[in-house]
Amino acid sequence: MNRIETAVSYCKYDEQATYLEAACRAALVGGSIIHKLYNTPHTIEMKGAINLVTEADVASESAIIASLNEDAPGIDIMAEESSKDNPKAPTGTVWVIDPLDGTTNFAHGFPFFAVSIALLRDGVPLVGVIYCPMQDELFAACRDSGAWLNGEPIRTTDTRFLIEALVATGFPYDIHTNLDAVLGQMRTVLPKVRDIRRAGAAAVDLAYVACGRLDGFWEMDLQPWDTAAGWLLVTEAGGMVSDFAGQEYSPFIPEILATNRELHSLLTDLLG
Ligand code: IPD
Ligand code: CA
Ligand code: CA
Repeated sequence: MNRIETAVSYCKYDEQATYLEAACRAALVGGSIIHKLYNTPHTIEMKGAINLVTEADVASESAIIASLNEDAPGIDIMAEESSKDNPKAPTGTVWVIDPLDGTTNFAHGFPFFAVSIALLRDGVPLVGVIYCPMQDELFAACRDSGAWLNGEPIRTTDTRFLIEALVATGFPYDIHTNLDAVLGQMRTVLPKVRDIRRAGAAAVDLAYVACGRLDGFWEMDLQPWDTAAGWLLVTEAGGMVSDFAGQEYSPFIPEILATNRELHSLLTDLLG
């Protein structure tokens, strides 16, 4: 069995298995386009002062949508490059797509970025897939069935003390208006943990929490396509996801705290 068939074989529910397979196939299609474009000159447009969009974001999004429409037709789509920021939580079943999470990294030749695809039903995540094309790593999760990296089950860490924790964060595109809040969180967390990473792709940060490479991740001012798939990955891998105060999470709120569960209340105490 290949890695998609293996992950799908773990899915307890047939409907979710079909969607997981469709999401994995679409993520590989988008990822292969990004991979091909990585070493070519880029067309860069600005969505804001430091918010880029490249030819790869647009090409990946079109290919992902075409692939999903072929494998799982008739499902609504919310995709970053064809949606407005801060969309409202939709009812019904919807694909939530980030065709290239980590565009700044991609544009600078820093090979840490991914495709992120989630299926939400009435706000509940059923399927989540994150594909890192440069590493050829396919992270997948199915609600109540587990989470996998290239078909192998993954778990969050069991780190219990902040001083032993490697955590990650990100800086919002409106950092210029949010500088005090962002630096305030860094000031509070940095002296308490082993170290902090800011690698530049929220979906990958969440996938890394799910597979135990990171013990936790937090960021403010994210969009639903940044976090919807990673949210399910982390929870299916045994971790916990909430807002900074420990309240119930939804990708339609801007902030996220994802941890291995053991560290959750220690981090809400610092961030909330
Ligand atoms: C961004 C990345 C980055 C995070 C930003 C996101 P994009 O997504 O995830 O790490 O700090 O807040 O918007 O624009 O590269 O898809
Ligand atoms: Ca993103
Ligand atoms: Ca993006």
